[in-house]
Amino acid sequence: MALPRRVFVIGGHTTPFIGKKHPDFIWKRHPDFGKRTNPTLEDYITAAAQGALDATGTTADQVEKAWIGNFVGELFSSQGHLGAALVGAAPGLRYKPVMRVEGACASGGLAFACAVESIQAGTDVTMVAGVEVQTTASARTGGDYLARASHYARERGLDDFTFPALFARRTKVYRDAFGVSEEDIGRVSVKAYANANKNPLAHMRSVTMDLETAAGEGPRNPCFLANEELNPYMKMSDCSQVSDGGSAMIVVSEDGLKRLGKTEADAIEVIGLSHATGDLWTDDDESRLHTTAAAAERLYGETGLAASDVGVAEVHDCFTITELLMYEALGFAGPGQAAALVREGRTDISGDIPVNTGGGLVGFGHPVGATGVKQVLEIFRQMKGQCGAYQMPTLPSVGLTANMGGNDKTVVLGMYRNLG
Ligand code: CAA
Repeated sequence: MALPRRVFVIGGHTTPFIGKKHPDFIWKRHPDFGKRTNPTLEDYITAAAQGALDATGTTADQVEKAWIGNFVGELFSSQGHLGAALVGAAPGLRYKPVMRVEGACASGGLAFACAVESIQAGTDVTMVAGVEVQTTASARTGGDYLARASHYARERGLDDFTFPALFARRTKVYRDAFGVSEEDIGRVSVKAYANANKNPLAHMRSVTMDLETAAGEGPRNPCFLANEELNPYMKMSDCSQVSDGGSAMIVVSEDGLKRLGKTEADAIEVIGLSHATGDLWTDDDESRLHTTAAAAERLYGETGLAASDVGVAEVHDCFTITELLMYEALGFAGPGQAAALVREGRTDISGDIPVNTGGGLVGFGHPVGATGVKQVLEIFRQMKGQCGAYQMPTLPSVGLTANMGGNDKTVVLGMYRNLG
């Protein structure tokens, strides 16, 4: 949408994303097992909301409206009604209009879209949060819960790990169409882990991935789908993580910026927002993300910018193939050409269009409701020089986020300009 009222992100807070293979994640062989437990959904909501207020010097009573993105709190934590849960995290929000928003893995992006649209309608100071806890169930049971983002009656039977299977199918179609090698897809994983290894908040911060491991099946990197046709097209290294975490940020109008005592230099401006929704019951040709491409066309049309203007991007890499498909849907590469961007290092932190500098969903982790919020904050951090070991050498002036729910069914894109 075109934004007649200017919108700014002034910062926020992302908790560490943790789960299996993260050194702080408590499981039966962890030395602290029995002494402490992993943070709960409530803990993550509180940490993210309080962190966002502290980081921006905002008080909860200054926030006029808030939204929280979450996909399946009811299934993993037996907890719904998370608008009221967010109020509990910051008592100054009491009796304000606060609600939970759901759009599968784009729930965080939708929460952000609500804030941007509300600012168009006259709101000045908002909070946007996202949260998910997924480690309360095994990855196999979680596969069933997450399958609710697909057309369950039609697609659940593909495999116990329904989403890995759906994207294995896209990998097969894409590789058959364009002759892309396993090594080329493996490079996406190597980049994700290398970036995550520089990021103290990342789920995979201490797990390394080399090209030999990522480019072929092996004992460290099994193909794990039971679906025989799709099995060769999805290895562990291709997958985003089953992570817990939360993220929250403060999004304001021009008046809100002044009210909070901030200048434009403290903020990044949201210069475009595009939300597109596909049909859950039918699928398009799988070699392309058609809903994302439609959202991108609208975003570029409304901002007057082109893919070549983007200096940093956070794209939804729920699987390695998704990152390549995102490059093509967003116009960073032509059909079948995405792998070259990774091979040539162009999407590395030091490249000309760095993508997923903190590790993306594969390396940073994917607590699904938090992802769309974390992506915006990652652009904020890169633009403000706050990324430490994974900071880009030159501060980018234009950034893009692409958050996707389901199999390219709900898509929220944002475009940002650095004002500092
Ligand atoms: N050889 C063969 N198979 C093996 C194996 C080996 N060496 N090791 C493990 N496996 C198999 C086993 O069958 C195992 O399941 P069981 O233990 O139940 O038998 C299965 O692989 C998983 O193994 P683990 O549980 O030990 O592995 P894990 O906990 O590390 O999980 C993962 C790995 C399955 C890849 C998990 O990280 C995962 O599911 N990732 C994807 C998460 C996901 O789908 N997120 C949503 C993305 S989609 C999106 O973003 C859009 C949306 O709206 C949903």
